[in-house]
Amino acid sequence: MKGIVLAGGSGTRMYPVTLATSKQLLPVYDKPMVYYPLSVLMLADVRDILMISTPASVPAIRALFGDGAHLGLNITYAEQPEPRGIADAFRVGADHVGNDDSALILGDNIFHGTGFGNLLRRGRSELDGCTLFGYPVSDPERYGIGELNDQGQLVSIEEKPLRPRSNNAITGLYFYDSDVVEMARDLEPSARGELEITDINRMYLKDGRAKLETLGRGFTWLDAGTHRSLLEASQYVQVLEHRQGVRVACVEEIALRMGFISADECHALGEKMSNSDYGRYVMDVAKSLA
Ligand code: DAU
Repeated sequence: MKGIVLAGGSGTRMYPVTLATSKQLLPVYDKPMVYYPLSVLMLADVRDILMISTPASVPAIRALFGDGAHLGLNITYAEQPEPRGIADAFRVGADHVGNDDSALILGDNIFHGTGFGNLLRRGRSELDGCTLFGYPVSDPERYGIGELNDQGQLVSIEEKPLRPRSNNAITGLYFYDSDVVEMARDLEPSARGELEITDINRMYLKDGRAKLETLGRGFTWLDAGTHRSLLEASQYVQVLEHRQGVRVACVEEIALRMGFISADECHALGEKMSNSDYGRYVMDVAKSLA
């Protein structure tokens, strides 16, 4: 399975904060936002990852992760000159995906919960068409919405409906089989001029090959696309990390726990940042798992 992090967009909703930097590089408490979606792909055991961002932001994201080898990953980069829609990820990333399955995650989506790694790896192994991940929200008109019937089967998908049929938001994490590249190639822009991921999902649904995996109350899903939601995400991570003494989306720790890197390699990564609590945490984790 190939991974894509879509971390572009104009960021206008966060002006002036994003006038000179990419939204996905802003801190969510103690690490850049893009660490969170990257950590989800790593937990799904996806190691071949394409980061898509604007021409202005690709160099900064590359400076953060390089080729990913230090994390046991293979990270490559591509530019999306205009925000042409989420499904455009599969046009920009067509060569990267090739004939493989893929996992797409939006660069401002934050997931957290016990057993998430297992859920992702199971979703991956059971993939047949497309798997979407649902999460109950109080403001469904802001999201893609999936409706389930009594048997738990997905029966409708709508993008930002005025009258939502359910409160099951479709999160910004999508698993697809290899057909998605061709579907994206044939897609027409919507009335608002974007290549809609919801249109792709509806095509899979029409073929009877779309599944919605609902993340229960034990999970947290946040998007950090506004000033307020960014602050709330930071506060969530702060409270959790301070209470539990463990870090959310620490990519070095995940690389070690997933067996992508050794304890010595992890320790060396922490040492480079040993002036920060984050760096010292990475060193401690490496020692405890050596
Ligand atoms: O967060 C989940 C929601 O994401 C889904 O429930 C919706 O179905 C889906 O359409 C999307 O809704 P948003 O309104 O959040 O989409 P937005 O246009 O804000 O894009 C989400 C992120 O993707 C944002 O951080 C910027 C990035 N992006 C977006 C577009 C359209 C790109 O990098 N390139 C793009 O062309």
